[in-house]
Amino acid sequence: MNWEAVLAPYSQVVEELKVKLKGMRAQYEYESRHSPIEFVTARVKPVTSIIEKAEKKGIPLDKIEELQDIAGVRVVCQFVDDIYTVVEMIRSRNDLTIIEEKDYIAREKISGYRSYHMIIEYPVETIRGMKLVLAEIQIRTLAMNFWAINEHSLNYKYEGAIPEEVKERLQRAAEAAFKLDEEMSKIKSEVREAQRIFRRK
Ligand code: GTP
Ligand code: MG
Repeated sequence: MNWEAVLAPYSQVVEELKVKLKGMRAQYEYESRHSPIEFVTARVKPVTSIIEKAEKKGIPLDKIEELQDIAGVRVVCQFVDDIYTVVEMIRSRNDLTIIEEKDYIAREKISGYRSYHMIIEYPVETIRGMKLVLAEIQIRTLAMNFWAINEHSLNYKYEGAIPEEVKERLQRAAEAAFKLDEEMSKIKSEVREAQRIFRRK
């Protein structure tokens, strides 16, 4: 299989989504407003991971476009509220179609994982015309990202079989990260309230 050719539209999608989401951040900056987007990262799934996942899901290699996360974009926010602002912004765009949404913030995974996931269909122009490509957008806070990155490396280290004791520690760490997010939100609203009172005086 000519992977480079197969993955070319996915690279295109990832680059375009990155530019568009970073553009949203820049618009807030020009207006000196708090940006709901802190940073954006994006990647095309490595070929080895694609093959592994297709095998696990029973997807033949000539149907890999069924995999929803070959193109992956991650939007990291300061506050939990910001996540929902970003979700609304994505919902209101007309250059993409939302296929599925999963709120792992309202309902976290057993691992402790929290994030908001959107599967989108995105039209990309190729030399053979327009092609619809699936992409996964993960939206999370800095704290959720910190947790997920660490948990991911541990999963890698233990090859998916994290010892029970470590798992429990991770679940507690996830709760602590969420508490931090909640505390930060409260501090943020208090700061805003103080600013309002100050302005009135
Ligand atoms: P997949 O077969 O993994 O695609 O499962 P799914 O289709 O049910 O998707 P889900 O929304 O559960 O997860 C998709 C992606 O979210 C994964 O590829 C990870 O990047 C991330 N993710 C989901 N669960 C976890 C978790 O427990 N820990 C970490 N670190 N990341 C997770
Ligand atoms: Mg998935």
